[in-house]
Amino acid sequence: MEEYPLTVPSRSAVRVRVPAKINLHLGVGPLRDDGFHDLATVFHAVSLYDELTLECGPPGVRLVLETPDNAVPTDERNLAVRALNALAAYANIEPAVTVRLRKGIPVAGGMAGGSADAAAALVAGDTLWQLATPPEKLHELAAQLGSDVPFALLGGDALGTGRGERLTPLTHPYQRHWVFATASEGLSTPAVYAESDRIRGTTAASDPEPVIKALDEPDPRALADALGNDLQAATLSLRPELHHVLAAGEAAGALKGIVSGSGPTCAFLVRDAEHARSVAARLKNTRIAHGPVGGAALVTN
Ligand code: C5P
Repeated sequence: MEEYPLTVPSRSAVRVRVPAKINLHLGVGPLRDDGFHDLATVFHAVSLYDELTLECGPPGVRLVLETPDNAVPTDERNLAVRALNALAAYANIEPAVTVRLRKGIPVAGGMAGGSADAAAALVAGDTLWQLATPPEKLHELAAQLGSDVPFALLGGDALGTGRGERLTPLTHPYQRHWVFATASEGLSTPAVYAESDRIRGTTAASDPEPVIKALDEPDPRALADALGNDLQAATLSLRPELHHVLAAGEAAGALKGIVSGSGPTCAFLVRDAEHARSVAARLKNTRIAHGPVGGAALVTN
């Protein structure tokens, strides 16, 4: 017997905007039996956004890229497609939707763009299908999709533990300003973790506490001094040219440069918006952003 959706969409399309993240601190513990690493990380959502529009469509989940990019899959390998299938399975409905995805987050850049799209898809699907999924359930679905997906739902600043899915929000009144130097070719996250295991062995995760303290300081130099990434040595080992990018950013006046997540994007902390423009003008392939910003949210205009 054919199954029919249990809920009728309330509107024909919903649009969700979702931010990129960087890790102000990325402490990486030893490899676990399940293939992941325990993290002690400070997530920071920044104002580079992907936009996902969900429309009723033919049976199944069809994904259309509004910003064509061969590095972004449009089938089940895309986390947004997986997210909609997972949400539909939870709600016991047959999905029949078209996803239009506009990428503004660097692809495979260490800024959790794919995870962001999964979070956006969960919010969009929940709205289009009128599910009113409890936040704990959305978080659980998000965590099953990927370690960074729960933070993309939440946004702001947060301490992440476990494999990154256990979140404690960190609140403070300060906006930070960033210049990002993007690379044309992405890096595989598992490859960076594997290289990190080779270099660091079973070294314990470094302590996120200095970054957590620095977030409460108005002077961005305190944060600059505290930034840290245990994966950086591995990323630099796989992409030695990033040494030059980091040096160039600091020579251009940035307070501090670090590799974003597993890279290859480099994140430069600067004093303010004007300083961001002056640093960016002296570097190649840059994007300017600020943070923290909110997580995946409906666009209502
Ligand atoms: O969770 P996600 O699918 O984003 O992880 C991608 C890959 O990154 C994992 O397969 C694993 O190799 C690595 N990873 C890890 N430890 C984490 C998060 C990710 O080893 N805490």
